[in-house]
Amino acid sequence: MTALTLSTAGAATLRADALVVGVAKGAKGPVVAPGAEAVDKAFDGKLASVLETLGASGAEGEVTKLPAPSSLKTPVVLAVGLGPVPEKDEAFTAESLRRAAGCAARTLAGSKKAAFALPVEASEDAEAIAEGALLGAYSFTAYQGGEKDAKNAKNGNGPKQPLAEVALLGAKPRDKAYKAAAERAIALTEEINRARDLINTPPNDLTPEAFAAVATAAGKEHGIKVQVLDEKALAKGGFGGILGVGQGSQNPPRLVKLSYTHSKAAKTLALVGKGITYDSGGISLKPAGHNETMKCDMSGAAAVFAAVVAAARLGLAVNVTGWLALAENMPSGSAIRPGDVLRMYSGKTVEVLNTDAEGRLVLGDALTRACEENPDAIVDVATLTGAMVMALGHRTFGIMANDDAFRTSIHEIAEEVGEQSWPMPLPPELRKGMDSPTADIANMGERMGGGLVAGLFLKEFVGEGITWAHLDIAGPAFHEGAPFGYTPKGGTGSAVRTLVKLAERTADGDLG
Ligand code: BES
Ligand code: MN
Ligand code: ZN
Repeated sequence: MTALTLSTAGAATLRADALVVGVAKGAKGPVVAPGAEAVDKAFDGKLASVLETLGASGAEGEVTKLPAPSSLKTPVVLAVGLGPVPEKDEAFTAESLRRAAGCAARTLAGSKKAAFALPVEASEDAEAIAEGALLGAYSFTAYQGGEKDAKNAKNGNGPKQPLAEVALLGAKPRDKAYKAAAERAIALTEEINRARDLINTPPNDLTPEAFAAVATAAGKEHGIKVQVLDEKALAKGGFGGILGVGQGSQNPPRLVKLSYTHSKAAKTLALVGKGITYDSGGISLKPAGHNETMKCDMSGAAAVFAAVVAAARLGLAVNVTGWLALAENMPSGSAIRPGDVLRMYSGKTVEVLNTDAEGRLVLGDALTRACEENPDAIVDVATLTGAMVMALGHRTFGIMANDDAFRTSIHEIAEEVGEQSWPMPLPPELRKGMDSPTADIANMGERMGGGLVAGLFLKEFVGEGITWAHLDIAGPAFHEGAPFGYTPKGGTGSAVRTLVKLAERTADGDLG
């Protein structure tokens, strides 16, 4: 993990491998952002024109490396684009700082120490920069560079180590608000990066059992109670959805309950995560081209797990219960068939028309179980439908809910923490498409509006009078394109920041 320090040193005096400055896009060319005054001075006040000569504009995502003048204590200055200069009386948004810091940290992989001289007006800015840098520095190299003769490493072909240390300049290390901001950023990003590691771990290693073991170990470390239901306990309990999905695999399913409690908590938040460690589609097998990234189908469970641990590490005054519905969806002689009827934990029967609509089956059981404990609110997170990716693209998750105010709150919270989301409806007329001649409901309905149909299916398993929201993160959970901002290739940790902020708001009594 990359280390973070708040430093009182000036930009011109701190020793580091690189000095990061911000550059914004002005009407007449690049503008050096506040925080870099001393650096500009070292360039005789000509940093902006030097950058312009090199073709820099200050656009978001742009990075320009410059050799530093000898009066600075770093060999390199790295200018990162912040996007447009803010309007008069406005500041750079938290998300523009987060992305710029992420870009810089990513570019500086292989370096030991970088000093960040980006604009910091308040502790919120320092927090955003710290988050961006610590998320941008992430890389997943656990399966690379281990060749026995270390030939690759010698040839320089091995993976670069993440930037080892980030020194934040312009922050006030002795100020309570800044200290808290740094501590929150460290706990939050470590847990997001833990979620990313779980998502990126190949499915031959991250089985339901292995995921449950990781949760058990983390629970011990952070004072979270962890209970694991194995396949025998699931059978005894009548968890037909989770068992049905898992029955085709050699790796049996698990339901993990994580309970974080606080002595002063007035509210309990339940979080439920879809944890399909690999989604082949089952007997309704996915075609080639659609299953290569399906190790990401446990991203909801990873987000829930990370959020519970983060809540515990931050000592939030709210009870948070996480439910991880873990199974592997495989085709085999023991797999569920299209046409099978499952009896769910709630007692409802489901005709499985398509074994690739498995997420709703494991979630249905977990939702019913979570509702038994009467939480004040329940949020499920799932890579549930390709239809949601069609509707909202690869960077935005959909929010559905049985309560308009709750859906709006989550949308606003997501926006505030820099996660793109959009409210989606649950049109009641789509329910009849799931009518089954044989069972109480089918696991598939109309193709059009497939993301909403899935949401309506889940709604059937939410207890009467319980406030519930469903986040379909199928788009943003796994990033296949080139890295941008603080988002690497692979698992992103989507929804963790939203869930943690929701827990904080609930602790503060700001919600319902
Ligand atoms: N895990 C997939 C959804 C998915 C798609 C996640 C793309 C991430 C990226 C889910 O289990 C699934 O297969 N859904 C089906 C449902 C359909 C059979 C009703 C889908 O979306 O096609
Ligand atoms: Mn599927
Ligand atoms: Zn799936």
